[in-house]
Amino acid sequence: MRPSEISLPIQWSDDWNLGIEEIDKQHRSLIEHFNDMKRRQQSGADSFNGDLLFMQNYIKTHFQTEERYMKEIGFPELESHVNEHNFLRDRVSEMAIR
Ligand SMILES: [Fe+2]
Repeated sequence: MRPSEISLPIQWSDDWNLGIEEIDKQHRSLIEHFNDMKRRQQSGADSFNGDLLFMQNYIKTHFQTEERYMKEIGFPELESHVNEHNFLRDRVSEMAIR
């Protein structure tokens, strides 16, 4: 799904469930937080830095959880997925230091 095809607020789809409760819970929570962030942004609330800091911490924890699971199951594309995580983590950090 391309970013331009996502309408806001993002509605959780059960198709996104992986069947791993810990990760599914974090994904649902990420979407809820993202929707809350967008709502605050649209209402003009000045909470951007706080929201960003929260997201930075949350995705750090979330990516660690995913990487741990991928290692445990011997996920064949672990390295490229970890690289994607690092890329995303860096983009969010860049937003924070602007
Ligand atoms: Fe994820």
